[in-house]
Amino acid sequence: MGDRRSQIIKALIDAQNTPVSGEELGLKLGISRTMVWKYIKSLKADGYDIESAPKRGYVLKSLPQLLYPEEIQLGLKTTLLGKKIHYFEEVISTNSVAKEIAASEKEGTLVISEVQKGGRGRMGREWVSPHGGIWMSVILKPRIPFRHASRLTLVAGLAVANVIREMGLDARIKWPNDVRINGKKVCGILTEAKAEVDRVDYVVLGIGINVNMDLKEIPESFRTGSTTLKVELGKHIRRASFLQDFLFELEQQYINFTTQPFSNILDEWLTLSDTIGRDVKVTTPSRIIEGRAVGVTPDGGLIIRKTDGTKEEVIAGRCIYARP
Ligand code: BTN
Repeated sequence: MGDRRSQIIKALIDAQNTPVSGEELGLKLGISRTMVWKYIKSLKADGYDIESAPKRGYVLKSLPQLLYPEEIQLGLKTTLLGKKIHYFEEVISTNSVAKEIAASEKEGTLVISEVQKGGRGRMGREWVSPHGGIWMSVILKPRIPFRHASRLTLVAGLAVANVIREMGLDARIKWPNDVRINGKKVCGILTEAKAEVDRVDYVVLGIGINVNMDLKEIPESFRTGSTTLKVELGKHIRRASFLQDFLFELEQQYINFTTQPFSNILDEWLTLSDTIGRDVKVTTPSRIIEGRAVGVTPDGGLIIRKTDGTKEEVIAGRCIYARP
């Protein structure tokens, strides 16, 4: 089904507003005109605005604004990420779905949902996920020890920041994984992994990006400190194109991750992070560390110099800047 729908969409896009007859489409796909009509009907139901010009054929007027796999995959430049996409209109959490299917799925498989009803943030927090955002999980199967899985959070943060910067916005990374614009959070990343002994079975990279929401669509208790790409750019963004660009960027960064020393990625990450040099307060499940962020460890942990001059390293935690 998916494949034929994609072929029809592609044929209509290629025709550039000139009608394509049911007969022509049928011949191209090796199916009857009635079947073509059935596919057209299902595409229309999914929000594709297709006009039927009597006796002349079908014209594609506009694409839907949803993240249908066919639309993401059409023109997707990746070779690994997003080749298979599980799409949902609504789900509890894409990370939970991804973890359930990860063992039997190939590396690069994506789980994406228009809405999450129980989106999860780091450290047990809720992640608000209404219509208009990009809520997705990427299944990866790198040959790395478990202790290096958190490095992928930095890889993903770097990819998000880079793709937002390409839009002309000054995206920065707040350790370990918040992507912010003008000091406000636009993206969060939740990395979950399963490992045997010391080898990772899979890593699920859960990425949430506030794209087309207005601030009033974010509940008040979460609004302070948050922003969306639409708010920052002052215009609506075509999410499918943004996602294609992001997946391509993430794939490039992932290739670097698997082929180059991690220090190369860390160096790039450091140029985009606004955490180093700041006074921070980092909360972990067992302690609170305050001081100046002075660097990152080879695994991406934060190095904090406390007021007594001693240094501490934190692998994960919630970081707050003393001054915004
Ligand atoms: C954070 O900053 O606390 C991390 C937020 C991660 C949110 C994403 S949205 C897609 C994926 N599914 C989830 O339930 N969470 C992640």
